[in-house]
Amino acid sequence: MKIAFIGGGNMAEGMIAAVRRRRLAETGDIVVAEPQPCRRQLLIKKYRLRVVEDAGDAVPDAGLVVLAIKPQDLGGVLADLKDRLAPGQLLLSVVAGATLDALRGGHGAVVRAMPNINARGGTAVTLWTATGGVTPAQRETAAAFLGTLGHQLYTPDEKYLDMATALSGSGPAYVFLFIEALTDAGVHIGLPRTMAADLAVYTVSGSAALAVKTGAPPAQLREMVVSPGGTTAEALLRLEEGGFRGLITRAVVAAYEKSQGLGGKAKGG
Ligand SMILES: NC(=O)c1ccc[n+]([C@@H]2O[C@H](COP(=O)([O-])OP(=O)(O)OC[C@H]3O[C@@H](n4cnc5c(N)ncnc54)[C@H](OP(=O)(O)O)[C@@H]3O)[C@@H](O)[C@H]2O)c1
Repeated sequence: MKIAFIGGGNMAEGMIAAVRRRRLAETGDIVVAEPQPCRRQLLIKKYRLRVVEDAGDAVPDAGLVVLAIKPQDLGGVLADLKDRLAPGQLLLSVVAGATLDALRGGHGAVVRAMPNINARGGTAVTLWTATGGVTPAQRETAAAFLGTLGHQLYTPDEKYLDMATALSGSGPAYVFLFIEALTDAGVHIGLPRTMAADLAVYTVSGSAALAVKTGAPPAQLREMVVSPGGTTAEALLRLEEGGFRGLITRAVVAAYEKSQGLGGKAKGG
């Protein structure tokens, strides 16, 4: 499959790495449009891809055109792409807050997706939706592409996309902050930093892997760790006293409200 990426930043690089790893497209079938010369050089050097400066030059022949630009750049890019996209081409956007209405502008086949940076390791989770103009074959293309990034879920209801942005799109940043904090706490009680870092990161990845493997509710798994009157119960009390759950909820609500605000910036035209 021929894929054009518009924007060659962090998210595009993660998706390119995933697509190559899963061999969804050969190197020669991928083209990236990226205005920054240093990013273009990096992509050429690291992945040996064809890289162009203008979005319009990337799209001819591509079955799938992936928008991976910042919301504030969307209007200009959609204006560049107007009249350049053929009806058979699928436009797939990962731009936070960019609605199907904003993306559609004259092109019928549009997918709006919210992956996360874990695409770099093939362990992203992506929620996606599509316009009515996306054919069954194009849906399969979208599912195959997003499947290379990790786990993908389709929803017919676009309203969940801004919510996913706040939970899973931004989510890796919350988890990395938690890993940092856990590491610092380990250092605080006397562990060497590299040892604390290993213990923290494998604790988080192992706990997530167990939750995925068993499918058990997290509360049930947590109970397996908490013995009555024990060390874990003592720590959990401190977390509850500090408002841990409420704080996470307030953080996600703030990200959600911001994501809805981005809808205004990410208008096409
Ligand atoms: N990073 C994440 O974890 C994540 C997760 C989910 C979704 N997303 C979404 O993915 C999108 C990209 O995020 P990112 O983190 O990859 O941002 P990024 O690193 O800033 O990458 C965006 C790239 O697009 C380039 N660009 C700007 N205008 C362009 C144009 N006209 N044609 C082609 N390329 C252009 C930018 O160049 P300049 O720097 O010169 O402007 C930049 O290199 C955002 O909308 C974000 O909401 C990101």
